Amino acid sequence: MIKIQGIKKSFGQLQVLKGIDLEIGKGEVVSIVGPSGAGKTTLLQIIGTLDRPDSGTVAIDGIDTSSMSTRKLAEFRNRHIGFVFQFHQLLPEFTAIENIMIPAYIAGRSTKDAKARATELLEFMGLSDRAGHKPNELSGGEKQRVAVARALVNNPAVILADEPSGSLDSKNKQELHQLFFNLRDKFGQTFVIVTHDEQLAAITDRTIKMRDGMVISISDSDKSEPAAGPDRDSMQEQNSDTITN
Ligand SMILES: Nc1ncnc2c1ncn2[C@@H]1O[C@H](COP(=O)(O)OP(=O)(O)OP(=O)(O)O)[C@@H](O)[C@H]1O
Ligand SMILES: [Mg+2]
Repeated sequence: MIKIQGIKKSFGQLQVLKGIDLEIGKGEVVSIVGPSGAGKTTLLQIIGTLDRPDSGTVAIDGIDTSSMSTRKLAEFRNRHIGFVFQFHQLLPEFTAIENIMIPAYIAGRSTKDAKARATELLEFMGLSDRAGHKPNELSGGEKQRVAVARALVNNPAVILADEPSGSLDSKNKQELHQLFFNLRDKFGQTFVIVTHDEQLAAITDRTIKMRDGMVISISDSDKSEPAAGPDRDSMQEQNSDTITN
């Protein structure tokens, strides 16, 4: 469902990506790890069509994005890709529910439709009672969950997350990670997550290690232990049956 081939990218003289090939299947939760400067964010931005490679191709859901015009790409991103960043990047003037609805508006959905979907997502995130709060009236963990809901509103093929828990304390971090797996288990949501968090990397389906612009290893997670502790199960119970696509 995501297939990237031969991706190379330079900034000036500096070659940041030196030929990356990857395939990611539907419903996979994949982590990308590696030292600072390895090219992780650059790769994620290219997968997300926010940046273009110098050479190589990116196909998402069988659609080759390499030759699309900038306008077509913007539309493609809105419909097929959800982004979650280290800092939530919610719009401060809008409430939680409005922030979630905005990508749906951009996709041309009606207010009624967008609101219904956003309401459903807020419920799934356990944030129904925060719908009318503006970002500065939400905790860090809540803001990040709203950002995940915003990323999900148009049912994207994949969510790309760049250090999504990087600004959270350990409790909120764990809850956010739990949420990713709940979304995968329940809806088959695909995730590609750049992270410095070893605990998260250890529980993802595959970990892609990068260094100096190259993939140096791809490892499956250790499945001998459950993917997460009892927390995960209890969240799943809380969150079940509250959302439909
Ligand atoms: N727009 C740009 N112009 C010039 N150089 C850039 C640009 N973006 C990134 N770089 C350089 O490319 C290299 C890879 O950057 P990238 O942001 O992909 O690293 P990263 O693996 O995400 O690191 P970190 O873990 O610190 O976020 C770095 O050396 C960075 O300085
Ligand atoms: Mg980065």
